[in-house]
Amino acid sequence: MAIASTIRPCCSHLHLSQIIPKYPYHFSKSQKCPHRYEVVAQAASTAPAPHPTFDPVGAGSATPPHILLHGLKPLVFTPLLPFPEKTRNVDPVRHVPIPRTESVAEREAWKLLKQSVVNYCGKPVGTVAAADAGAFKGELLNYDQVFIRDFVPSALAFLLKGETEIVRNFLLHTLQLQSWEKTVDCYSPGQGLMPASFKVRAAPIDGNADAEEEVLDPDFGESAIGRVAPVDSGLWWIILLRAYGKITGDFSLLERVDVQTGIKLILNLCLSDGFDMFPTLLVTDGSCMIDRRMGIHGHPLEIQSLFYSALRCAKEMLTFNEGSANLIRAIKNRLSALSFHVREYYWVDLKKLNEIYRYKTEEYSQNATNKFNIYPEQIPAWLVDWIPDRGGYLIGNVQPAHMDFRFFSLGNLWAIVSSLTTPKQAEGILSLIEEKWDDLIGTMPLKISYPALESDEWRIITGSDPKNTPWSYHNGGSWPTLLWQFTLACIKMGRPDLAKRAISTAEKRLLDDNWPEYYDTPTGRFVGKQSRLYQTWTVAGFLTSKLLLEKPELASILTFEEDLELLEGCACRLSRNGRTRCSRQAARSQLLGNCA
Ligand code: GLC
Repeated sequence: MAIASTIRPCCSHLHLSQIIPKYPYHFSKSQKCPHRYEVVAQAASTAPAPHPTFDPVGAGSATPPHILLHGLKPLVFTPLLPFPEKTRNVDPVRHVPIPRTESVAEREAWKLLKQSVVNYCGKPVGTVAAADAGAFKGELLNYDQVFIRDFVPSALAFLLKGETEIVRNFLLHTLQLQSWEKTVDCYSPGQGLMPASFKVRAAPIDGNADAEEEVLDPDFGESAIGRVAPVDSGLWWIILLRAYGKITGDFSLLERVDVQTGIKLILNLCLSDGFDMFPTLLVTDGSCMIDRRMGIHGHPLEIQSLFYSALRCAKEMLTFNEGSANLIRAIKNRLSALSFHVREYYWVDLKKLNEIYRYKTEEYSQNATNKFNIYPEQIPAWLVDWIPDRGGYLIGNVQPAHMDFRFFSLGNLWAIVSSLTTPKQAEGILSLIEEKWDDLIGTMPLKISYPALESDEWRIITGSDPKNTPWSYHNGGSWPTLLWQFTLACIKMGRPDLAKRAISTAEKRLLDDNWPEYYDTPTGRFVGKQSRLYQTWTVAGFLTSKLLLEKPELASILTFEEDLELLEGCACRLSRNGRTRCSRQAARSQLLGNCA
C-alpha cells in the first residue's frame, strides 16, 4: 500500500472549542531532521506565547515555566539496570543478587526487538510493525511502518529495561505529526488526530535532485485499508506519555507547552459536543486495534476503556492554570459519567443476563429499567450456556436496541487496568477468563474476540471479508500481543499465577513459530492464514509480560486505582437532577461492588 504523500502547512484550519486555548503554532510541511524544524507563529490576531522550539532529543530546549502537575508522582524504585544485566532475586544466605538467566525465547526476542528499531536522522524513533521480508511475495503493505498502537509494548519493554531515549523520541516526533493537515479527498479530520502509523522516507532535498534527506510520512487513515481514522492512537499516546513520565521522572517533558497542547488537542477531539446521549465515545467501525469492519461501530468497549484510561492520565498530567481549568473540569465530569455508564450497562453476569431475559420493552419514562429498549431475543444462544455461575464481563457494545454480547479481550483487560470497572467486576472478569480458559486462552493466548461471527452474520457484518473468516484474524483469532495486557491486569488483581500460566503456554510455541502476528482456529492451533511472522508487537508483548512479572511494582506506570472523588462526582450530579434510579446510593453500591 502506498503511504501518505501530501503534507501541506496547516495554518488555515484551526477549529478549537472554547475549552482549549488558542493553538498558536503550526509546523512547516514535511517533518525533517531536527535542525530543519521550524515553529511558525500564527496570524497576528493570536498573541504568540513563548514556545520552545521543537527539539526531539531535548538538547537546548527552552526551560519550561514551572508548572504544577496534578497528581503525577515519580515512582520510588531502585534505578533500572542497563540492558542486559538482571538482578531481581537475592541469595538468602549471601544477600547478593542472583542474576536471572534469560530463556532462549527471551534472548531471541530481544535480538528481534532491537533489529526492528527504526532510526530517523540517526536517532531511534520507533519499531516496524513486522520484519517479515519474505511474507506474501514481499508485499509489505504497511507492515514496514511504525504503528502507534504497535509501538506501545515495544516502548514498555524498553522502558522497563531502562532504555528511555527511543520512547522520548517517539513521543515527540509523533506529537509533531499530530499538527499536520491531513486530507481524505476534500475533507480534513480534526486537528488533534494522531496518525495510525508513520514511515521514514528518503526525499530529494528542495531544489537539488541529487541530494536526499529523511522525512517522516504519517498515515492518518487516508491510505489505510478502509480509510478509517485511528481513534485509539491519540489515547495510546497519552497513556504512554504518563508511563514514560512515571518511570523516568522526566516531568520537564510533560510540562512542555507543545506536549501540554498535544494532550489538549487529543482531548478536544474526544470531548467535543455532538448529538450524543451517552458519555461513551462514538466512533466508526475499525477505529482501533480491530481496524477492519467487524461490527464494532458505535460505542465499542475497547475505545471506551482506552478513553477512560487516557482521561485519567490527562487529569494527572495537565498543568492547572486558567487556560486548562475548564478542560480539567470537563475531564472529571466525563470520567464520572463514563464509569457509571459502563459499570451499569456493559456489565453482564448470570444474574444480569437473567434480568435482561425478563426485560419489558417499549418503556417510555425516565425511570425505565430497560433504558435502551433491548429485546430479550437478542441474547445469543451461545451465551446461555457459556456464562459461568461465577464472574462476568463487559460486553462489546451498547446502543439503542442493541447489545453486542461478544467478549473482547482488550476492552475487558484495559477496563481492569484503568479501574473503569468496580474492583468486584475486575475480579469477575479474571475469574471468567479462568473458567473459560480453553475458549479464551486455548493453545495460544489471547482471543481478540469471542466467539467468531459465522455464516450470514459474517457475510453481513464483515462485508464478506476473506481475512476475517470465522476463527481467523479479528474474527475470533488469537493474538499473542495481548499477553502483556493480560499480565498487567493479572498483576493488578493479584493473580500473577494466571499470567504465568498463559506465558508458559505461549513461550516455546512463539519461538518455534517465528513470532506470528495471530493464530487461527477456535483454540488457536494454527498460525494465522495471512499472519506475518516476526511481528514486533508479538515479540514485545512477550518481553513486556516477562518484565512485568519480574518487576510487578512497575505495573503502576500503567494502572489506576478506584477514584472516590469521581464516583462522588457522578452521584452528586445525578441526585441534583432528581434521577432516582442513578442515585448517590447507586454510585456507592458500585464502589462497594454490590451491583457487580
Ligand atoms: C493490523 C492490525 C492492527 C495493527 C496493524 C500493524 O492492521 O489489525 O491492529 O496495528 O496490523 O500490526
